[in-house]
Amino acid sequence: MYRFPKLNSTKNLSRIAVLTSGGDAPGMNAAIRALVRAGSEEGIEVFGIYHGFSGLVEGDIRPLSSASVANILHRGGTCLKSDRCAEFHYPAVRMKAAERLREMAIEALVVIGGDGSLTGAHLFQQETGFAVIGIPGTIDNDMTGTEDSIGFDTAVNTALDAIDRIRDTANSHDRLFLVEVMGRNSGFIAAQAGIAGGAELILIPNSPIAFETICDSLDQSRLNGRLSSIIVIAEGEPGRTQRLAYKLEEQGYEPRVCILGHTQRGGAPTGHDRVLASCLGAMAISHLQAGVSDVMLAVQRNTFTAVPLQQILQPRSFEDQAMLQLARKLRG
Ligand code: F6P
Repeated sequence: MYRFPKLNSTKNLSRIAVLTSGGDAPGMNAAIRALVRAGSEEGIEVFGIYHGFSGLVEGDIRPLSSASVANILHRGGTCLKSDRCAEFHYPAVRMKAAERLREMAIEALVVIGGDGSLTGAHLFQQETGFAVIGIPGTIDNDMTGTEDSIGFDTAVNTALDAIDRIRDTANSHDRLFLVEVMGRNSGFIAAQAGIAGGAELILIPNSPIAFETICDSLDQSRLNGRLSSIIVIAEGEPGRTQRLAYKLEEQGYEPRVCILGHTQRGGAPTGHDRVLASCLGAMAISHLQAGVSDVMLAVQRNTFTAVPLQQILQPRSFEDQAMLQLARKLRG
C-alpha cells in the first residue's frame, strides 16, 4: 500500500481543468474520474480539455460533472481523447492557450501524460505563471523521478498474456519467436514482460547484445534440449525486429515475428493501475489546494511525492543489467 504526504490546504480554488496528452495509457480515465470527484467534494468545478494541448489551444473545453465520469474507471483509452501537439512547442501558442483558460476563469491545469507532455506543462507554467500539476501517464514508465506511471502495469500484463499464448504455439512447433513490445526508447516493458514470460533473451534500446551472443544463446539452448525459444525485443528504431529476423534466417534459424504494437496501449486497466490513477487524480486536488505547482506527482519507494517538473524533463533509460542477465540465467 502507498503512503501519502500530509498537506495543508491554503488555497481556495473554484475552477480547474484537466487534459490527457501523448500516447494514451490504460488508467487515464480512472485518474480523470478521481480528479473530478475529489474536486467536486471540495467544491471545485473541473473542466475537461479535449484532444490534449490542441484542444487547449482551440478552446475545446467543457465542464465535467461527477455523473459524467461514471462508468469510465474500468475503461482503457481516455474519454478526453489525446494527441501529440507539435504546435505547443511555440511560446506564442502557449500564451494563447493561457488566454483561453483565463477567459473561462480557470485557475489551474492538470496534465496527464509522459515526459514530452509534462515538459509542455512545465514551459506553460514558467511562461504564463499558470498553476500546473503533472500526473505520469505512459505505458513506457520511463519518466525520471517516478518508479511507476499509469498504464505500465496494464501494458506489461497485456504483453505477458500474448507471450504466454505464443509460448504454447512455439512449444508445439519447436520454434523461435521474436516478440516485439512497445518502447521506442525505453526497455521497461520488455524487461518486465520478458522476465515474467520466461524469455530467453531480452533486447532493449541503447543496450545492444552482439548478434553472435544471440546465436550462441540459441545454440546453447538447443544443446540443453530446449527446442523452442522466445526473445522479447523492445521496439527501438523502426524495423529493428524484422532486421534481426532476416539476419537469423541467413544463419539457418527459422524465426517467427510477432509485433504486439498498440494492443499494449488499449484494454481495461489492471487493478494496480486503477488504484494508482485514483490516488494520483485525487492528490492533484490536494496539492493544488496546498498551493503546490510545477510538479509531477510521483511514486518513490511506495510513497507518493511531488517532484519539480524541472527535474523530470529527460526520460530515464532502463539500466538494470541484472534484470537482463536474469533472463539468460533462468532460461534452462
Ligand atoms: O506512449 C508511448 C508509446 O506507446 C511508445 O511505447 C511507442 O514507441 C509510441 O508511444 C508510439 O506512438 P504512436 O502511437 O504515436 O505511434
